[in-house]
Amino acid sequence: MKRVINFQEEDNTTTQDLNFSDLVQSKSQIKERSFHKKQKVDKPNRAHVKAKRKEMLDFRKQLPIYSGRDAIIKAIQDNPSVIVMGETGSGKTTQIPQFIKEAGMISDTLGGVAITQPRRVAAVNLAKRVAEETVTKLGGQVGYTVRFDDTSSSHTIIKYLTDGMLLREILSDELLLRYKVIVLDEAHERTLRTDMLFGMVKNIQKIRHEKLQKGEDIQELKIVVMSATLDAEKFSEFFDGAKILYVSGRLHPVDTYFTNEPQADYLDATLVSIFQIHTKNPHGDILVFLPGQEAIETLTGLVNDYAKQLKGKQQRLLPCPLFAALPPSQQQTVFNPAPKNTRKVILATNIAETSITIPGIKYVVDCGLAKMRGFNPKIGVESLLLHPISKSSAWQRTGRAGRERAGVCYRLYTEDTFRDLEDDTIPEIRRCNLSAAVLSLKASGIENVLEFDYMDRPSRISLVRALEELYALGAIDDTGKLSPLGRKMSEFPLDPAFSKVLIQSVDYGCTLEVIAIISLLSVDTIFFTPSDKRDQAAEVRRKFLHPDGDHLTLLNVLKGYWEVKGDIEWCKENFINIRNVKIALEVREQLVRFCERLDIPSQTTCGTETESVLKCFLTGFFQNTALLQPDGSYKTVTGNQIVKIHPGSAMFGKRVEGIMYNELVFTTKHYVRGVSAIQAAWLPQAAPKYFNNKTL
Ligand code: CDP
Ligand code: MG
Repeated sequence: MKRVINFQEEDNTTTQDLNFSDLVQSKSQIKERSFHKKQKVDKPNRAHVKAKRKEMLDFRKQLPIYSGRDAIIKAIQDNPSVIVMGETGSGKTTQIPQFIKEAGMISDTLGGVAITQPRRVAAVNLAKRVAEETVTKLGGQVGYTVRFDDTSSSHTIIKYLTDGMLLREILSDELLLRYKVIVLDEAHERTLRTDMLFGMVKNIQKIRHEKLQKGEDIQELKIVVMSATLDAEKFSEFFDGAKILYVSGRLHPVDTYFTNEPQADYLDATLVSIFQIHTKNPHGDILVFLPGQEAIETLTGLVNDYAKQLKGKQQRLLPCPLFAALPPSQQQTVFNPAPKNTRKVILATNIAETSITIPGIKYVVDCGLAKMRGFNPKIGVESLLLHPISKSSAWQRTGRAGRERAGVCYRLYTEDTFRDLEDDTIPEIRRCNLSAAVLSLKASGIENVLEFDYMDRPSRISLVRALEELYALGAIDDTGKLSPLGRKMSEFPLDPAFSKVLIQSVDYGCTLEVIAIISLLSVDTIFFTPSDKRDQAAEVRRKFLHPDGDHLTLLNVLKGYWEVKGDIEWCKENFINIRNVKIALEVREQLVRFCERLDIPSQTTCGTETESVLKCFLTGFFQNTALLQPDGSYKTVTGNQIVKIHPGSAMFGKRVEGIMYNELVFTTKHYVRGVSAIQAAWLPQAAPKYFNNKTL
């Protein structure tokens, strides 16, 4: 096999080739494993703690942000809101909360500081780092709160949390009284939740200020917005002319290469580039940006396979996946230094763009793509498509190569393609289904969601669509007020339709099954389908297929998994993705706990009466239904849209009276996924307000 990618340096003609066949050697070589004895760990003593403190302080002092410490503290003390702009890695996220604490601005009595992150991995990792820097135990002064994990305690005054968790905290602590400072981090990412927080936190600040003016015993709320890109003016404008501070970064030069030709298969191009770098370039870890979990897992497998064939003395190559859904226990390898004589290749989603700092990176491979959510409010179709990234994303990715020393970035696209990229990514609020967001606004007391203070206003039609959906689900009444059901729904960390199904499962007597299925649906897929064994995998998995479709098929797999107690061999034989099943089971645990808190008995089971499971799902997904047409196609009940059943579905190729689906995704066609058979007669039962026989 000979495969070569030519890279062209920016405004330069240097090219690099790789003769791929150089690498291939006998597959049979199995490396000897070496073992070493676990070393005794000393109990920490005072001298040790003191030495550690000094080491940490020395580290902190050399960060670019440290020289601006006094100015930052003063700005936060003197202004209600401050915008901090600085290059990734300059120390914003780890240092500013510590500065705030060291200046005495936060305490048990004054309130703590909350730092929001769009992603859980980042929140967890940053809290760990800051606990280390402050030489305190995680969960003491410094902690984190993410959806499946909470290490914070009553002593925690520096808390890293996902933006979703802060939204949730507003539900029980309307004025966020437990905090003195809110840091909205990674603001440039403009995730839906961060955008909602902008408006909500600004409003809370105003209310607290007014109360203080009236002489109430309350603290002013300080807001710090942090961003890694040059959009500070816009944030400042939104936060009433907030003061802007620029932290000068420290970025080493990065040589940037483009491909000479567009690459048809980005996975293949990535694989080749990784080995090209590995065999031709000196030490330094590689960071690869990929669009999603699936691509990362495929490539992890491929890199492993090819790495085994590297000739004799070659440095080893260790692939380390990194994506949001990866359980924390498996994320650590990314941050640990590479073992001796080994080069790490970190395969990451855009999670590694700005929100987390990975040490040791010298090479970046940027495939130029990201998976992006889109939403067409007119027909209610969500899409998850591969999109070219924006120029600002591309620069962020490139920058990751120059954190510690000069680096190299390989862009797997041409310079012309780069020139045509959008400057910035469109904020999520402008391209998402907003029903979860609107429910959460309503639940935190914001009645008029159309007039809410948005930094970028979503289109009226997508807001109206969200209100309609919530009304159809019974979450709001016809005056737009949150119903008791809606209030309950808002407590679950799930999309509104799923929350409703879970709550209704009590009446349908199938909570056990519903929780299991929702958890399994929360991961990309629980199947493992190698491209060269597609047929074999399908054949082996035939035994799990339920005639009524995907929901019950998933349940069958889980039952099988439980029967063998999660046996690894069993998973391999049956082409089950054990990692994703484990992730799903963590979600399940969490949902069980939520149910307990809300007095929903989570063990209620319908046994073999599985029809009630489908009827129950229909209470949340009655709008996601399609009926069989005389010509054999399926047409959606609400939008008269022809939809195709995804080839991966248990219902693929089947003709039944009607189908219900969890997702309608536009890729090349309007595909439905998570599909089960239903009867048209079930619809009016599932949503009496919405359907009458006439509309059917
Ligand atoms: O927020 P910003 O991107 O400005 O930087 P940061 O996350 O505060 O990281 C500052 C520095 O702390 C990084 O450059 C790393 O050297 C170090 N760091 C680390 O060693 N381990 C972490 N988990 C996070 C940061
Ligand atoms: Mg940061």
